[in-house]
Amino acid sequence: MNETVDLTKYGNRSYVRAVMGTQFDDMPQYVDFLRRSGEEIPQTAAERGTHRPENKPLPYEYYLDPKYVPEEIEKIWKKKWQVACREEDIPNIGDRVAYDVGPLSFLIIHSGENEYSAFWNSCRHRARRLCGDKPESGDMVQCPFHAWSYDLKGRLAWVPRHEEFPSATAELFSLRPVQCDTWGGNVFINPDLDAEPLADALGVMPQHFADCPQEDRYTAAWIKKKVKINWKSGLEAFLEGYHVLTTHPSGMPIFGSTYTQTDCWDDGKASVSRLITPALVPDGWVQGEVSPRLALDLFCNTYGLPLPPEGRGDTVADARAYAADKTIEIHREQNGVDFTGRSISYLVDMHQWYAFPAHFPWWGEGLSWWYNFTPLGESPDECVMEIRWLRPLAKGAPRPPLPRCVEIDFDKQGRDFPETGQVGFIMDEDMENMEEVHRGMKAADPQVARPILATEQEIRIRHFHEAYIKAMGITL
Ligand code: FES
Ligand SMILES: [Fe+2]
Repeated sequence: MNETVDLTKYGNRSYVRAVMGTQFDDMPQYVDFLRRSGEEIPQTAAERGTHRPENKPLPYEYYLDPKYVPEEIEKIWKKKWQVACREEDIPNIGDRVAYDVGPLSFLIIHSGENEYSAFWNSCRHRARRLCGDKPESGDMVQCPFHAWSYDLKGRLAWVPRHEEFPSATAELFSLRPVQCDTWGGNVFINPDLDAEPLADALGVMPQHFADCPQEDRYTAAWIKKKVKINWKSGLEAFLEGYHVLTTHPSGMPIFGSTYTQTDCWDDGKASVSRLITPALVPDGWVQGEVSPRLALDLFCNTYGLPLPPEGRGDTVADARAYAADKTIEIHREQNGVDFTGRSISYLVDMHQWYAFPAHFPWWGEGLSWWYNFTPLGESPDECVMEIRWLRPLAKGAPRPPLPRCVEIDFDKQGRDFPETGQVGFIMDEDMENMEEVHRGMKAADPQVARPILATEQEIRIRHFHEAYIKAMGITL
């Protein structure tokens, strides 16, 4: 092991040249890696996906041609369950926000005790958007244009000069509802009133999250980043760990992307997938060059854990055990939550989930993130990526106030906003590919304008394409 390894080499492309030609003969997937090391395997990781998606890569025209945008709006955004906000965004009765997806806008209201309601965000008089870009509050939704007023259940309550609108009854001119339900502290909507219940769209996810309840979390950091890329290729960049070698080389000493396990589930109603990547297991590409102790030091630095004393971290097993113990201590001190007895996997590794069309919750404490993607306006060329850091909340503890949402425009980066910290830094690395992917799709020879997808590393993208093709009713 080389303790004086030059870390800068992991942050540049010359390193990639150095590993060119490397092949792995025996690279175990995540659960096999845990099994070989004799470490506890959490039940969620042991339960492997049951679905093998087809290999029908989506042609680039679906990412580029504006003619597909209205079709996506009709067949996906007006038909599918999607996350509109978190419950903590609207903590008090009367609080409300707008959820915008493409050109659509919905009004999400905390309408009663443990009750949330959602409506088309459009006044029944002359259509003014009722809730704007800032959160609002109060016991009446009053239109800023001519003061038509609706109660929290969307019922028309007052019309100025009502005598001039003899047909404007509450029966006929209340707000138009959409379906609204919650899971894991997320408020979901579905504009299709005939759609099957939310539980059907979540598939196996709730049972896997039963021991990591997302409702017992609060938003500790919040970013919305505008990106010049189609929403589909935006989210695809987060469905695989294959890009780590060149996009996140500085993460390789502490995250073993080459051990990533991918799983897909699909019962015809829910398209759900997951990847798991171990932490403190140097990536296969830097195997033999990064000692477990160095990986542990770097991990502790990145996660704000106390550096280990002499004699700790000499093996991968001990490095993982140390990081897990310190993670328990940090949560006990900072959040009053006791994770004693939880597996190392739960405490330090990355367990990233995805449910079609665009929601990514994360299981465990390794990286307790949350992503969501939405198209922006009617352009196929722009989307918004929303990222939250969800920290655990002790039972009965008051919810910390919602942090400011850091809105990052197209031409700005996470590093322009120091409060985004590590999340912003990693996001910047991913963003460097985005616009170029979109431009590259436009630059492709039309004869070959579709991707080729790896059998395991990119199987979740195959699954996403399969779900998209089905939702859109496309024959390829
Ligand atoms: S458009 Fe809302 S009151 Fe006129
Ligand atoms: Fe990435």
